[in-house]
Amino acid sequence: MSSPVEESFLVDWLAETRIWADAHMEKALSSLDLGPTAHSEAVRYALMGPGKRLRPALVRLICAQMGGQDEDAAPSAVAIEMLHTYSLVHDDLPCMDDDDLRRNRPTVHKVYGEAEAVLVGDGLQSLAFEWLARTAHSAEPVAILAHAAGPAGMVGGQSLDLAATGRGDAIAVDEVRRIHSSKTAALIAAAVELGAVAGGATAEQRMGLARYGRGLGLCFQAVDDLLDVTGDAGTLGKTPGKDEAAQKATLVATLGLDGAREEARSLAQETRETALEVGCPEGGLALALVDHLLDRTR
Ligand code: IPE
Ligand code: IPE
Ligand code: MG
Ligand code: MG
Ligand code: MG
Repeated sequence: MSSPVEESFLVDWLAETRIWADAHMEKALSSLDLGPTAHSEAVRYALMGPGKRLRPALVRLICAQMGGQDEDAAPSAVAIEMLHTYSLVHDDLPCMDDDDLRRNRPTVHKVYGEAEAVLVGDGLQSLAFEWLARTAHSAEPVAILAHAAGPAGMVGGQSLDLAATGRGDAIAVDEVRRIHSSKTAALIAAAVELGAVAGGATAEQRMGLARYGRGLGLCFQAVDDLLDVTGDAGTLGKTPGKDEAAQKATLVATLGLDGAREEARSLAQETRETALEVGCPEGGLALALVDHLLDRTR
């Protein structure tokens, strides 16, 4: 049995991965036609803000776990971060969550106006698929990302989230779980699947790993709901307390703070078990990441 990955090793690996992802995103931005100067500036502002780059990290991690090289992971890592960033830009719009702060900076619509922020999201989504179509070795990653981002995944989840907004305390916990599964876990599971495909996984390995990704995604959004209550703006890089104010359907609204903490812990435990079942090495990065995301403060 290998010794468990130390938290400090994982933190260093994540920091190095952010540099890796940013370099590949810079390369994509300089290779693609970003359109008129004002639009191109706003796209760059959104994408290159200091995000955690969790989804690119998952693509890289799982690709490496399957024996693939970083270069195999890069196309999907760039594309999924573009797609995710588009979802944040739209999520922050006044007609959605109406947020002023993201990644420790004013939101895109605060800087460039609401209409341009809609277009930045649209532009990033197109760029994600253009980059993937031009650089990936097959059409499979395009299908994975499109499915996870669309009505069956993130977009559908955002629709359910908005429909439940204002009814936070009247929503059943299963409905919140359904929202979390589609608005957040779909894309996080896609990152894992994209890494699996890039690393040459079999269909069976890929399906197994997607289960790990869904568990991780559910745990990630449970903690996101908790941090909205317990976090501070400086660390989070976004304004806390927004969910309660808007009566969002969150785990905290349905289960209370302690109940939501318990749910996050039990999702983490299930995800650790799934990781081992589907072949993630004991003591490896995929397992360490579960604890890291459970204990995160941003
Ligand atoms: C925020 O995602 C939106 C959710 C799905 C909860 P992240 O917390 O990964 O945001 P960045 O990319 O680090 O800014
Ligand atoms: C966002 O969920 C999920 C997305 C698809 C962007 P939240 O609305 O809770 O994310 P934050 O808290 O604004 O980052
Ligand atoms: Mg939202
Ligand atoms: Mg939001
Ligand atoms: Mg949130």
